[in-house]
Amino acid sequence: MTQSLTILRPDDWHLHLRDGAMLAGIAPESARHFARAIIMPNLVPPVVTGAQAQAYRERICAVTGPAFTPLMTLYLTETTDPDDVVAAHQSGIISAVKLYPAGATTNSASGVRDFNKVRAVLEAMAEAGIPLLCHGEVTDPEIDIFDREAVFIDRVLDPIRRATPKLRVVMEHITTANAVAYVQDATDSLAATITTHHLVINRNHLLVGGIRPHYYCLPVAKRETHRRALVDAATSGDRRFFLGTDSAPHADDAKESACGCAGCFTAPNTLSILAHVFENAGKLDQLEGFVSQNGPDFYRMPQNDRTITLEKSATPVSYPAKIGTGAGPVTVFDPGFPLYWRVVD
Ligand code: NCD
Ligand code: ZN
Repeated sequence: MTQSLTILRPDDWHLHLRDGAMLAGIAPESARHFARAIIMPNLVPPVVTGAQAQAYRERICAVTGPAFTPLMTLYLTETTDPDDVVAAHQSGIISAVKLYPAGATTNSASGVRDFNKVRAVLEAMAEAGIPLLCHGEVTDPEIDIFDREAVFIDRVLDPIRRATPKLRVVMEHITTANAVAYVQDATDSLAATITTHHLVINRNHLLVGGIRPHYYCLPVAKRETHRRALVDAATSGDRRFFLGTDSAPHADDAKESACGCAGCFTAPNTLSILAHVFENAGKLDQLEGFVSQNGPDFYRMPQNDRTITLEKSATPVSYPAKIGTGAGPVTVFDPGFPLYWRVVD
């Protein structure tokens, strides 16, 4: 008998949709399965004002149509105006604000260097209940790339949360057991997103037997003990952990390069992979919480009322190896194992 699973329609709480020809090619891949997504603002130039967020939302909706709701974010800079942030939130244009430490990742040059300069914005966000989404890595060149998340918690995140206890914070795309423990020990004002790919790959997948540019993302995948801690957290039923795919497409020529871009493109097969990971952990019953319930609960939004059905086949399901876009082909994340679950409805 075919096994099937019907769950509330999922949302993606961390997604890169890019712009222009890339947006047109890849946005349908998320809109097909997800009802809503938190849209990252790291365009070139970044989305820094409410007016820019509104214009970007319209460009996304023109591609996806009304069945998909992009939840917009502003890119926090040292000159962000607290009043513009609060006004954009009150008028429903934005759902959150994104903090990139300057230079941490793709298109983050306008990010924050001196955290004292954003104090007033963070205070205003705490008062208005606007979540702060953190790219949790320090950029100090002295700090080893594999330690940057753990050091961010001590040097940046914990001081911000102590200084502004009412601020609601999402630690984005966590990759370490340290981050899992930090969230577990914190109050309900802190949550974390976990990506699909960090539940699947460790740093060996990236580096052993040849460098695999399509497994390179930031924060970089860590050792296997950390991956296991992420799987335990995602499948635990703890409502502070939810899906943010960080699906981050780059054209293949930008990935397969002497200086390849960071980002894994998981939108097309994310739900198939997650069903596999949760089933393997014996926790298929926790999938709905992770992909469809914990996120809206943290963001204080209603859960979706539509559903989605996944079916498990006896033989592996196929998915495209690449998605063609007007900006060039983009390779779809290969989990390295056959997938049996697929979205049927
Ligand atoms: C993201 C991108 O390409 O925009 N890359 C990535 O590796 N995750 C940026 C980000 O979220 O860090
Ligand atoms: Zn991202």
